[in-house]
Amino acid sequence: PPPINEPRNAVYPNGTQQHLPHTIIIGVRKGGTRALLEMLSLHPDISSAETEIHFFDWEDQYRKGLQWYVSQMPFSYPHQLTVEKTPAYFTSFKVPERIYNMNSTIKLLLILRDPIERVLSDYTQVYYNHLQKNKSYPPVEDLLLKNNELNTNYKAINRSLYYSFMENWLTYFPLENIHIVDGDYLIRNPFPEIQKVERFLNLSPQIKASNFYYNRTKGFYCLRDSGRERCLHESKGRAHPRINSFLLEKLREYFYEPNKKFFQLIGRTFDWL
Ligand code: A3P
Repeated sequence: PPPINEPRNAVYPNGTQQHLPHTIIIGVRKGGTRALLEMLSLHPDISSAETEIHFFDWEDQYRKGLQWYVSQMPFSYPHQLTVEKTPAYFTSFKVPERIYNMNSTIKLLLILRDPIERVLSDYTQVYYNHLQKNKSYPPVEDLLLKNNELNTNYKAINRSLYYSFMENWLTYFPLENIHIVDGDYLIRNPFPEIQKVERFLNLSPQIKASNFYYNRTKGFYCLRDSGRERCLHESKGRAHPRINSFLLEKLREYFYEPNKKFFQLIGRTFDWL
């Protein structure tokens, strides 16, 4: 493989080159960002970075500069769009301005899902991260409640306050440059959501309904590409803890106004709880 840290315009014999991303999946964490990236990558004109780069949100990465950022990008053909996804960008306060300074007209992809479902997914992810390290993690109720009231300091709850982050993004980018993918629809029926993304990115319509098939065992759609079938990693699509109706009601009450504010901000509604 070619060495990293090559000058930006180095061209390799097969005609590929590294580029700054043409589009970025900015989040939200647990929204379905991996599914979106994998599904979009079915398109031959998409070249995607494999790992989460955390360039704009981690200080030690950002300090390395744009040249380093480019060196993290995949080698792509001239007709391809480069895409990276780092779900933490959406909720990181400094990121919008930093992306704006790189490219003020960049098209951004944001995948959201029901804020309450996102909280439970976030909890589940952290729970399993602990389990892997043989560490214990409290039951979800212990984190969601404090003195029998909703613990609004819990990070997972905060990250679901979409409007508070969106306001910041919209001071830098016009709404029409941020395409919001409905993460709940993407789970239930991915093809129409992906078609919308193709159109937003001005890609030719090359992803087909036949690229998706429902896998009963997984309980999710999986991908079929040139005859090869694959599902997302087992860490994607895990069962969430069940919460009692008292807690669910608390969460519903809590998110009611913020959700409404978010819908007003973006001029669109979602069928969240
Ligand atoms: P859960 O594992 O909580 O169900 P991210 O990639 O941003 O971390 O998002 C993970 C979520 O993507 C999963 O959360 C899952 O619900 C969702 N998802 C969407 N489409 C999926 C698919 N086809 N296969 C597996 N997970 C999918």
